[in-house]
Amino acid sequence: MYQTKIAGLGKYVPENVVTNDDLSKMMDTNDEWITERTGIKERRHIKKGDGNTTATMGVKAARIALERSGINKDEIDLIVFATLSPDYYFPGCGVQVQEMLDIKTCPALDVRNQCSGFIYAISVADQFIKTGMYKNILVIGSENHSGGLDFTTRGRSVSVIFGDGAGAAVLTRSDHNGQGILSTHLHSEGKHALELSLKGPSTNYWVPEIIADNPQGDDIPYYPYMNGQFVFKNAVQRFSEVINEGLEANGLEVSDIDMLIPHQANLRISQFIQQKFRLKDEQVYNNIQRYGNTTAASIPIALTEAWEEGKIDNEDVVVLAAFGSGFTWGSAIIKW
Ligand code: UT7
Repeated sequence: MYQTKIAGLGKYVPENVVTNDDLSKMMDTNDEWITERTGIKERRHIKKGDGNTTATMGVKAARIALERSGINKDEIDLIVFATLSPDYYFPGCGVQVQEMLDIKTCPALDVRNQCSGFIYAISVADQFIKTGMYKNILVIGSENHSGGLDFTTRGRSVSVIFGDGAGAAVLTRSDHNGQGILSTHLHSEGKHALELSLKGPSTNYWVPEIIADNPQGDDIPYYPYMNGQFVFKNAVQRFSEVINEGLEANGLEVSDIDMLIPHQANLRISQFIQQKFRLKDEQVYNNIQRYGNTTAASIPIALTEAWEEGKIDNEDVVVLAAFGSGFTWGSAIIKW
């Protein structure tokens, strides 16, 4: 069995900064509420005409990750793209990346696991590398949330949280045993599928039916719905479980964690986990204050920034953990 390591990381966020005060001009909200409940101060939104889409942002992050990895694009054996906000209903963004990066005819796989998307994506990539089937895999998490949110007061409990951006990692076969991804742990619980969801348009709920059901346009299924407190309670429980699961599988203790990078769902969730595991501030990386919740992009953006800021050293134990719509959750334990 081979082992997988991260050879290069990259991130891209749109230039357009949207502060809490900016949002309060569009809907009945305010900086105090958003900061207190979520920790978010600002997020990035794609601006019409700036050329950004889920796929193009993913490509921008990928180019940086590829350059840092020293691996040529033509050596990429597989693209795995995680998003809940693809450019098209079909095909997925993976094939767009293959075309935009001009990579031969490598396979491209799209992963639809929302906030856990990046963990699911690196887990898939890890299995292909471990078995020896592929050597170099480009993994991307990218989201264009702002294109599909309700920026009226009706949508405020969801729309203030989410932001746009992309992160990427080039995964490759590790030369040193014991270095790289030690394990990944994935879960789902579909009975809660609709607690954080966007129901239509879908093949099960197509446009004419939506219009017929909502003559006044008051119950709109094409904006995301979130049962916030229920999601919050499940998140703190599942984050803890899946971090413990990863540590136990590798014979590690909480004190062995050098850096925990939680999916940036809500600063209060990250702080709850930090307190529960008694981790110091320098052992947990958060940037939700600047980007909001970027779903599948949040972990690769945070991981890239933590690495860029010199907060991850060789031999460090890095723990990634996520929870989100599905419900789905997962963790990855990495020896850097
Ligand atoms: O990434 C995927 C996983 N996602 C998560 O883990 C998110 C989990 N949930 C959360 O982060 C929180 O539940 C939220 C941040 C979404 C909401 O915070 P909350 O403390 O659960 O607030 P709430 O939904 O209970 O709303 C409290 C009040 C309500 O008013 P009333 O009924 O008490 O009068 C809301 O209408 O706050 C009101 N409210 C707002 N007020 C100002 C909701 N959104 C806003 C807003 N600005 N943006």
